[in-house]
Amino acid sequence: MKSKTPSQSLTINTEVVLPNDTNHVGNLFGGKLLQWVDITAAIAAQRHCSRVVVTAAINHVSFDNPIKQNSVVTLEAKVSRAFSSSMEIFVDVFVEDTVTGKKTKCNEAILTFVAIDQNGTPLPVPELIPETDTEKKRFESALRRRQLSLILGGRMKPEEATELKALFLKD
Ligand SMILES: CC(C)(COP(=O)(O)OP(=O)(O)OC[C@H]1O[C@@H](n2cnc3c(N)ncnc32)[C@H](O)[C@@H]1OP(=O)(O)O)[C@@H](O)C(=O)NCCC(=O)NCCS
Repeated sequence: MKSKTPSQSLTINTEVVLPNDTNHVGNLFGGKLLQWVDITAAIAAQRHCSRVVVTAAINHVSFDNPIKQNSVVTLEAKVSRAFSSSMEIFVDVFVEDTVTGKKTKCNEAILTFVAIDQNGTPLPVPELIPETDTEKKRFESALRRRQLSLILGGRMKPEEATELKALFLKD
């Protein structure tokens, strides 16, 4: 399988916050943002592996700033690391000032997708080769996030999480 770069999976999705997307204080409802995040990340994962993919885990979501009704929201997703059948996807969320066009980052999400066949059996995915400094940093730290996600999902024993332990225990 031919390796790929993160830019080959880049997926950009632009949305407008309509009244029906808001909560009781007039800001974008978190669940709506998660729906956009999940779909954008799924397309990025699919672009990387050219297979059907499913969400295995939502590893992290931060709602750093409220997003007001009528805002233009841009979601940018890229594969940050590929393992055997799973892929980690980063989604950066920006709000655009419609007058100046300036984009401000307001949220970030990290998800894990798995490529599957018609029976739901996991399939191998191409290797990911990071290029930029940010892509390299995200690639390096993905192993720790994978181990944390597997522990939380009851799929790994904490004592087996060598990368994660190394973060806290020096020498
Ligand atoms: C995700 C799914 C395909 C995994 O299938 P499985 O039979 O458990 O297969 P495996 O144990 O071989 O896991 C497959 C990969 O997923 C990874 N994975 C599974 N759960 C994970 C989790 N919580 N966090 C991170 N990675 C996870 C495994 O580490 C493995 O990765 P690798 O092949 O790169 O090493 C299966 O659990 C599933 O279909 N889940 C439902 C998905 C779905 O319907 N999503 C929509 C939202 S409800």
